[in-house]
Amino acid sequence: MEIIHLSAECYPVAKVGGLGDVVGALPKYQNKLGHFAKVVMPAYQSKFLRENEFEAVYDGWSKLGFHSFPVRILREKNNKLGFDLFLVHIPGLMDRDMVYGYTDDTERFLAYQIAVLDWMAQWEHRPDVVHCHDHHTGLVPFMMANCQQFRVLSQIPSVLTIHNAQYQGQFGWDKLHYIPAFDLWHAGQLGWTGAINPLAAAIKASWRVTTVSPSYLDEISYHANGLESLLAQERSKSVGILNGIDNEVWNPHSDPMLEKKYAIRTADSGKKANKEALCRVFNLNPDRPLFTFIGRLVGEKGADLLPDIFYNALMQANGEMNVLVLGSGDPQVEGRLNHLKGQFPGNYNVFIGYNEQLSHQIYAGADFLLMPSRVEPCGLNQMYALRYGTIPIVRRIGGLKDTVVDIGDGGFGICHDQTSVWDVNHAMGRALDLYRDNKRIKEIRKLMMQLDHSWDQAAQQYIDLYQI
Ligand code: ADP
Ligand code: GLC
Repeated sequence: MEIIHLSAECYPVAKVGGLGDVVGALPKYQNKLGHFAKVVMPAYQSKFLRENEFEAVYDGWSKLGFHSFPVRILREKNNKLGFDLFLVHIPGLMDRDMVYGYTDDTERFLAYQIAVLDWMAQWEHRPDVVHCHDHHTGLVPFMMANCQQFRVLSQIPSVLTIHNAQYQGQFGWDKLHYIPAFDLWHAGQLGWTGAINPLAAAIKASWRVTTVSPSYLDEISYHANGLESLLAQERSKSVGILNGIDNEVWNPHSDPMLEKKYAIRTADSGKKANKEALCRVFNLNPDRPLFTFIGRLVGEKGADLLPDIFYNALMQANGEMNVLVLGSGDPQVEGRLNHLKGQFPGNYNVFIGYNEQLSHQIYAGADFLLMPSRVEPCGLNQMYALRYGTIPIVRRIGGLKDTVVDIGDGGFGICHDQTSVWDVNHAMGRALDLYRDNKRIKEIRKLMMQLDHSWDQAAQQYIDLYQI
């Protein structure tokens, strides 16, 4: 099958969170199964663009409302990622440093989607499926089905994967003229509660909808930032497929970013060496248990509670515990997390920012990784932690519920029910008890490192789904 993935992120080209990881891996695994999966994404001003070779495969003009803009599509020449990568260059709109966060994001991502469809409409053949990821590509299924200029694409099946229904990309009806001409009779398909809503439009117009874990599919029928009833209505075409991880990128045995590589057999000494290196950099004593958090500092991740969680835990532990945080987001949370450094020198540290290498080093060097998420459609951090022999402490929600089994139930993680300071502190108490039992830790480490969360299975599940 020929599968076209459309996404705003794709690791290592551009990554803000887990979406990048998924789109950087799934196509590679689909190709291993004998298919032709390709990624078509915006050309940001990225290191990847500067450091690799590209050839132009298309030059054209597209229109956003009354405004025409030039488009160049670049193809990466050496199949470096294990799939064909196409970058959509739109001067002035896409060639910026960040992926998101600009006041004209609506215009940027609409221009990208229109440019892709203009290009695809000129192909001499039709792909078997167009797979859209999140709201940045959410108007594609509607435009393929309804816009006159894309009529030749109308019979291509479209699939939407919802990575996070909290973000929907809404904009006002005053921008309706941005969307290429279609029979206005269908305009209702674009809207939800008074605005044009790309995620809602994609849920309505795509042939199939997927979520990134089965539990999240259940949860969004009562918690989806306003889309609950729509999702319930479209449930018959929806399926939850648990994300995998890229076992080649996330492999402690071959990870070039680590101080010391290790396998299951050498996990004890390997983790010890990585912990020591990490603790040296962050002025922490490696003999103490190391609790960590990696992620976006936003309410969804429970990040607003982290300062209180760590304050309580560190006070109670009386110096016998370390905490290390890597993340960025809400400036207030960043400020409070920074403030703790002065209160617990030698026991607590934080790196505010985004640092891919440090994230690998933390997964390898930590004893425990916290994920007190309020919403977690899948979550990849816990799967990376498992692969690196780090015990996840997670709230039972979404993909966390689907991937982490509590040690009390014969599993390998520590689970709690609520995103509350009390619940997380209690879970950390259980972790401290566990830490004292070295033999048990070793058994659990072995158990979790043996788990297989690779994409092999999920890649096939998507292929089965495409046979619509
Ligand atoms: P989400 O996509 O909701 O942020 P996921 O758990 O799916 O959450 O994926 C997060 C990804 O982003 C993981 O690869 C994680 O290691 C990475 N990540 C998050 N924050 C940072 C950071 N500050 N520095 C480096 N990597 C980060
Ligand atoms: C989203 C979700 C996260 C998921 C990721 C990849 O960012 O918040 O839970 O793991 O997408 O699907």
